[in-house]
Amino acid sequence: MKAVICEKYGTPEVLCLTEVDKPQPKDNEVLVKIMATTANAADARIRGAVFPSIFNFPVKLAMGFKGPRKKVLGVELSGVVESIGKNVTQYQVGDEVFASTGAAFGAYAEYICLTEKAVMAKKPVNMTFGEAAAVPHCALAALHYLQKGNVDTGQKVMIYGASGGIGTYAVQIAKAFGAKVTGVCSTANVELVKALGADEVIDYTREDLTNENASYDVIFDAIGKAPITECVNLLEEGGMYLSAVHLELPRILEGIKLSVKSSKKVIGGVATYTSENLNFLKSLIEEGNMKAAIDSTFPLEQIREAHAYVDTGHKRGHVVIRVNRETN
Ligand SMILES: NC(=O)c1ccc[n+]([C@@H]2O[C@H](COP(=O)([O-])OP(=O)(O)OC[C@H]3O[C@@H](n4cnc5c(N)ncnc54)[C@H](OP(=O)(O)O)[C@@H]3O)[C@@H](O)[C@H]2O)c1
Repeated sequence: MKAVICEKYGTPEVLCLTEVDKPQPKDNEVLVKIMATTANAADARIRGAVFPSIFNFPVKLAMGFKGPRKKVLGVELSGVVESIGKNVTQYQVGDEVFASTGAAFGAYAEYICLTEKAVMAKKPVNMTFGEAAAVPHCALAALHYLQKGNVDTGQKVMIYGASGGIGTYAVQIAKAFGAKVTGVCSTANVELVKALGADEVIDYTREDLTNENASYDVIFDAIGKAPITECVNLLEEGGMYLSAVHLELPRILEGIKLSVKSSKKVIGGVATYTSENLNFLKSLIEEGNMKAAIDSTFPLEQIREAHAYVDTGHKRGHVVIRVNRETN
């Protein structure tokens, strides 16, 4: 089968399309024919070894020193169950599924074996394979943080980085939870963020966050670039600042200091992904409360171009990788 291999860390040119053995499912596994995957910030970060200096050694200890130990990257996918192991009960041949592979990676390939307990669910019926592939990684992360923030009806929630992979879902999930949502993005993305349901939009290239005279119950920094002290000052008493990217020591120390000094909480950490949450997202999608914002689609053969685009840090929503020609 075709797969994209990453033998060493570096620019998108380290990604090589090659032939590898097709996997065979074990008794508790399903073999999924992958229809689509994505190029996202997580793959680009691992490929480029973009780790903050304090985490460089532990992350490379876990991931590999010269290149990723998991040579086939790709953290999410959609596809069709082609065969099942003899102990599998939840899936049948022909089921259309979507899944997060997380730290196991492996989605930059034509086939993957996943246990039936993997973070996988039946594909939303109203999504194409391309759209469904773009859901698990970022939407599960968005849901994780908004759950941590106990986002609820009537709360005022700011999503910083509202036009990115996580942000586009965070806006929609916070709206589905009944919050009043303010999205922060640049001029080019204002209409997109409004169309996703944001009640207010702040253009960070023209406006200062603190000029608005507004306050928030929850501020979710989906890209780790919001000014943390200013944001915490905008929180109501007992409010929460959530950060999907909480990797730099000065920000971590600032977060601890701000949490200790006041009733406000700064929360980071790695998102937890579950099948239960993936099924919840599937229901949001099928009820018409969430959709995927697709920036562009590349064939697997153009994975380098797709990664180069993600590396700009300015994609709008998601970059889909079409693995199988039948994918729409
Ligand atoms: N903690 C976890 O478990 C977890 C899970 C998943 C992902 N992540 C991390 O979360 C981060 C975000 O992922 P993502 O997929 O959402 O990223 P992304 O899609 O690559 O983010 C791109 C978006 O960020 C916006 N942006 C760039 N600079 C900005 C700024 N200064 N202010 C406001 N918006 C800005 C861009 O809009 P403009 O072009 O308008 O600037 C663009 O739409 C990544 O670092 C990823 O590794 C963490």
